[in-house]
Amino acid sequence: MTDEKKNEVEEEGRRNFLANFLYVGGILAALGGFTAGLLRFIIPEKKPPKMQEILVAHFNEIEIGDAKPMEVAGQKVFVVHLKEGYRVLSAICTHLGCLVQWQKENQRFYCPCHKGKYRPDGTVISGPPPRPLESFRVEVKNGLVYVWMKQKYTGGLV
Ligand code: FES
Repeated sequence: MTDEKKNEVEEEGRRNFLANFLYVGGILAALGGFTAGLLRFIIPEKKPPKMQEILVAHFNEIEIGDAKPMEVAGQKVFVVHLKEGYRVLSAICTHLGCLVQWQKENQRFYCPCHKGKYRPDGTVISGPPPRPLESFRVEVKNGLVYVWMKQKYTGGLV
């Protein structure tokens, strides 16, 4: 084989390699784009829930160290007035979902189902509850106490 012929064969091999490389790369890019689009279609984007601000109390309505049971936006809660400020806690026990009771004389929430006990801030004192009562975001503006809850619920002050 002459040098010229050898160079032509080598040049053709390089061209084929480059063509194959671009061909395979193009297929992979197209497959990646298709897969990404398919995944976006199958697994919809998770959007954060829309929140709404709901009036739950006038600032001096609940004395410090007391809690008021309410149903707000379809959820049973307690509006608690602590020395540090207001809290809104779910009335649903984190163990198996029973309704807790406020015991002002003992300054605690009590779950009658399995004797779970929570502090006024919702943290667990004793019993089987695995975690604190769910707490909602509270805001005090112009002497009024508001809670932020998911918008899917409807309702208001009870
Ligand atoms: S459900 Fe409340 S302690 Fe079990």
